[in-house]
Amino acid sequence: MELKTLNEIEIISAPHSKISEVDFENLTFGNVFTDHMLVCDYVDGAWQKPVIEPYAPFMIDPSAKVFHYGQAIFEGMKAYKDEQDDVWLFRPDENYHRFNKSATRMAMPEVPEDVFLGGLHRLLEIEKEWVKKGKGNTLYIRPFMIATGHGVIAAPSQEYRFMIILSPARAYYSGEVRVLIAEHFSRAANGGIGAAKAAGNYSAQFYPTKLANEQGFQQIIWTDDATHTKLEEAGTMNVFFRINDTIYTAPTSERILDGVTRKSVIELAQRENIKVEVRSVLVDELVAAAKDGSLKEIFGAGTAAVINPIVGFSYLGEYYELPKLENSVALEIKEKLTNIQYKLAEDTFGWTV
Ligand code: COI
Repeated sequence: MELKTLNEIEIISAPHSKISEVDFENLTFGNVFTDHMLVCDYVDGAWQKPVIEPYAPFMIDPSAKVFHYGQAIFEGMKAYKDEQDDVWLFRPDENYHRFNKSATRMAMPEVPEDVFLGGLHRLLEIEKEWVKKGKGNTLYIRPFMIATGHGVIAAPSQEYRFMIILSPARAYYSGEVRVLIAEHFSRAANGGIGAAKAAGNYSAQFYPTKLANEQGFQQIIWTDDATHTKLEEAGTMNVFFRINDTIYTAPTSERILDGVTRKSVIELAQRENIKVEVRSVLVDELVAAAKDGSLKEIFGAGTAAVINPIVGFSYLGEYYELPKLENSVALEIKEKLTNIQYKLAEDTFGWTV
């Protein structure tokens, strides 16, 4: 292994690359990882020197708090390659700031910018061959932090590990997405951790989503925990509804993640003079709109899934299929967004880095 130190990051190169073994045309989301990962430990109240090293399992004490109390957060980002072979990130500052908000909510230390963004840039320089050209090809970036301190006392850990791993990815969902509207289960509550990208927010969804899967639905549209009357998020995505010619999405709150794709969709729609309103849509309103034909589209928005049309929903045992459309606003916005991400259109917002 070659060992070199550069800009306060130690680099330990993988002895050989796995890249030639990867079938980039047939990727299952999040299954294949690149040759290297970034690791930075927090010990004695300070972040240590980050290391980029070969991707591999590592040792961790069985009493580490991440295993017992779920002190763990993550982010989801993507890198894109343009026609000139340059690699681009999309609004990385947003992810960096949200990561540290999540850290604060979970009583974890903030990660310095040079470790998170500086480390990511260095890692991407090393792994740039893993970012493939062409729309639809991305390198999914998963920064995360876990509590590594030992001892099962229920208190915040004194030690943490921040890491970044990279996974070449294409679509998150394959096939059509149908959703069940939550009547009983909740994703988040006021005062809780719904606005943080905390690992537990996702594992808490697994059981209700498994029940939905058994009924033939891919995801759940979460409703507010208090009344189950307001539509909030769709599975792991923010959710938009188009009723007539206006698109609606719920305002961010303690229960709703401040999605980077969500805010980009809103800003793009405003620029394109597509009517967009940030307000809660009621379940009753959605059902009425589905019945009278004014409900045109439902779509999820998130980094992994980008913009994903939802073809139908079920509520109180009744299934509502949306009409097939000639002109989908969701797909129009997706086209404009991905053109910016892949540098196929001018980025007048200054989102790409
Ligand atoms: C993302 O869209 O990046 C997410 O965080 C969702 C994830 C659960 C795949």
